[in-house]
Amino acid sequence: MEITFLGQAGLFIETRHGSILCDPWFNPAYFASWFPFPSNENVDLEKISRPTYLYISHLHHDHFDPQFLREHVWKDATVLLPDYPLNLLERRLGELGFTKFIQTKNGQAVEVDGLRFMIMAMVAPIDGPLGDSGLVVDDGETRIFDQNDSRPIDLDVLINHGPYDAHFLQFSGAIWYPMVYQFPEKMLQALGRKKRENEIARALRYTREIGASFIVPSAGPPCFLDDHLFDFNDFDRDPANTFPDQAVFLEYLQANGLDNGRLMIPGSVATLSKEACTVMHPLPEEQVRAIFTQKRAYLENYKARQQPVIDAQKASWPRGQVDILSSLHDWFEPLLEQADLTSVGINGRVLIDCDVQQIVLDFHTRHVYAWNGEEWDYRFHIDPALIEYCIIHHEEDWINQIFLSCRFEAQRKGAYNEYVYNFFKCLTPERLQYAEGYYAEKTAVQQLWESNGYRIQRRCPHLKADLARFAHIENGILTCTMHGWQFELATGRCLTSEGHPLYAQPIKDEEVEVDEQTSSNGQVNSIRTKCSHCWYNPKDLPEASKKRT
Ligand code: FES
Repeated sequence: MEITFLGQAGLFIETRHGSILCDPWFNPAYFASWFPFPSNENVDLEKISRPTYLYISHLHHDHFDPQFLREHVWKDATVLLPDYPLNLLERRLGELGFTKFIQTKNGQAVEVDGLRFMIMAMVAPIDGPLGDSGLVVDDGETRIFDQNDSRPIDLDVLINHGPYDAHFLQFSGAIWYPMVYQFPEKMLQALGRKKRENEIARALRYTREIGASFIVPSAGPPCFLDDHLFDFNDFDRDPANTFPDQAVFLEYLQANGLDNGRLMIPGSVATLSKEACTVMHPLPEEQVRAIFTQKRAYLENYKARQQPVIDAQKASWPRGQVDILSSLHDWFEPLLEQADLTSVGINGRVLIDCDVQQIVLDFHTRHVYAWNGEEWDYRFHIDPALIEYCIIHHEEDWINQIFLSCRFEAQRKGAYNEYVYNFFKCLTPERLQYAEGYYAEKTAVQQLWESNGYRIQRRCPHLKADLARFAHIENGILTCTMHGWQFELATGRCLTSEGHPLYAQPIKDEEVEVDEQTSSNGQVNSIRTKCSHCWYNPKDLPEASKKRT
């Protein structure tokens, strides 16, 4: 097996049974904030443009580069799809012209023409852009695990598919925390140090659990070439910087008794066998070393080359083209109206301060309005151009644009609240319903509602849409309007797909509805939500929702 490293999580894997192009990323991501480090400007694109298979681990733009895929990758490639409940990735790739897909099943190997693949898919709202994954490739002689930046939990499944000859994994931060927060400097330093230590220690734990013969640091860190972000780079091994580089990680492995790490830079080729992993770099050794030992000079040069790209991107950002308040009101209010568990989880106000306007997303009242001095729980200060861009392009995942760009400042009162960030990656009814359904499944919430004389399970057996909002019932048939699946209420049978029955029971006449159920000791046991026929037990709501953060 021969593997060419493409930068960040990009790999071009050549085997005797065909080639796989993984996560190729060449265009700057997130409003020209992130660039591959080291630079992959000199990678031979012709060599990787006609792969047998294409694997995109997830939709984050340092893994999914639509411009590159559109312009450089032939559409005869067969796409290996992770087992994501929402087919967002398949849709995006279909829009780019890819037509051949292999839908894998989570944790199960599939063999195609002599190559075995296994994809671990993570599907919680917190995982990447509603889904993240890692890939196992086995050509009969060697076997690798491309973990990239995923965080698999079920390690037994992975280990059972081993042993592995090489393991590619992330070791560095890839997020805005803590740098964008307006914390006191001392606190920022302490949080940064903790984050750096945690990331690198977690990577070490994964390498030990997986136990591969060779370890290759990958999937980061990116570098930041815009003037405003340039200081985010870890030039001098600052212990409080969350973007340690490959050289730091390899030394860390060695200090922990692992001398099987291998450095790859874009264009490096690893020849992998059971016994050996030899790496040929595209540059002489001393130049490879200098990338890391003279990093500031290296990045200054890289920055100078990319400045026109950054300038052009910035010049293209819209300014004054849309009214932000009314646009967000029209877009977000219908979402807030559906966001029962998200709202309980956030339990407060999020202030978007974009200089020209200050806008409140109020998760108590489920309204979006101009700020008038109300208390807020989270405050994001964002260049209005970025918000206008997201409005004009109807970006349904702001994490994958604004937040990962690090081009904003944040403040919060209290602890981190994951519901806030999950909301910003769920800006369509489909995405939001998925997250809501996921939260509902994780709680002991009573998920029943009543309609047409039936008590019915609240979440659609297909992809968890809230049937109290998305069901249409006619002639005893319930249609979930999210994707059109149908169910016979009398039997619960799904008419659209094999299996997937719906719980539905006729309501007996003597049953009486009350607005608030109270136990003998006067404690409220269940309450109506905004949706008039659903019941939640307050003590069953997700833990984070109870505390105001
Ligand atoms: S969630 Fe897909 S049909 Fe209901």
